[in-house]
Amino acid sequence: MFKTMEWKTPVTYGWQLTEELGSYLPEGDCFLVLGGLSSDRLGLEGMAKSAVRGKLHVFKGVEPNPTERTVEGGAASLRASTAKFVLAMGGGSVMDAAKMMALMAGYGGSARDYLTGKRLPEGPGYPVFCVPTTPGTSSEITPYAVVTVPELSSKLSVRHPAIYPKAALIDPSLTLDLPLDQTTATGLDILAHAFESFWSRSSDPITRSFSMRSVQLVRKHLEGAWNEPSSRPHREGMSLAGIMAGMSFSQVGTSVCHAISYPITLDTGLPHGTACALTLGATFDRLREKGAKGLDEIAEAFGSSPGSFKDDLSALMHRLGAPSSISATGFKGGSERVLSTEMKGFLSNSCIPLDREDVLIILESSL
Ligand SMILES: [Fe+2]
Repeated sequence: MFKTMEWKTPVTYGWQLTEELGSYLPEGDCFLVLGGLSSDRLGLEGMAKSAVRGKLHVFKGVEPNPTERTVEGGAASLRASTAKFVLAMGGGSVMDAAKMMALMAGYGGSARDYLTGKRLPEGPGYPVFCVPTTPGTSSEITPYAVVTVPELSSKLSVRHPAIYPKAALIDPSLTLDLPLDQTTATGLDILAHAFESFWSRSSDPITRSFSMRSVQLVRKHLEGAWNEPSSRPHREGMSLAGIMAGMSFSQVGTSVCHAISYPITLDTGLPHGTACALTLGATFDRLREKGAKGLDEIAEAFGSSPGSFKDDLSALMHRLGAPSSISATGFKGGSERVLSTEMKGFLSNSCIPLDREDVLIILESSL
């Protein structure tokens, strides 16, 4: 028995779809949320200006791993604006930040209230339309928003069905210029989403089929996109892989690899997806050692045998210019720093629950 899936965000997908962006947006004033360099490179502000039928309020400069301060500032600007909806154009950080701004501007409350669970979202606040410019995070179709709280040296998240975006408009042509390091990091994030959702304790035959197909697509297209960045089939393949992994983990969540990645990213600046992939192989092995069944088929989807998955993934990361061990990242915090992270919900979210002892074994094996 399994619960029927709920996909709350309608997805429209198409090559150069953003040329008709205006036809997918409501009339009225718009609050546009952008990142930094990539928004200039792609001319996103100009794109939004010609699409929006109303006044355009621009909030630009959301940083990678957006901070509490950024989302507080954005929420205040949104509240003071005449906007009727939010348009987020960028990577996962931009979309996560936009979802938080919309929530806080609509219902009040501080970011910390929502991030610590003191306050629950009553609704999305403002409708959020997402145009992702990277294929990896899937924030455009998930009910999650991750925010960095420097004061606590941690990344916290809101997970609630109320913050599903109103619509996702996915145009893989926007990813043609994605730099190599981001192609690697976002591709590895997709792999982590697909594997972790596959072994989630809530996974079901439908979510697992999306996870598996996503892994097959990454296997087929990630190195191709890296070696041939302007290849339409490879960029389309990665966008589809991202959607499929997102459809799976939006339902069943991620697990311990995501939890372990947070302090590594905060302390070293290593991109999120790469940090998640560092412990994917060791977690796969640990789950099998503890008796997890059925993991063979996802290793096969990756083109590996269960016994070789960890080494095959390391080799792929090496070929893609990413560090493939924790020691190669310069992370100095050690297991104490990792275990100081809030990971309760993540530890239990695997087909066989993991504990802190398992985290130590996974870290040791990923050094
Ligand atoms: Fe992720």
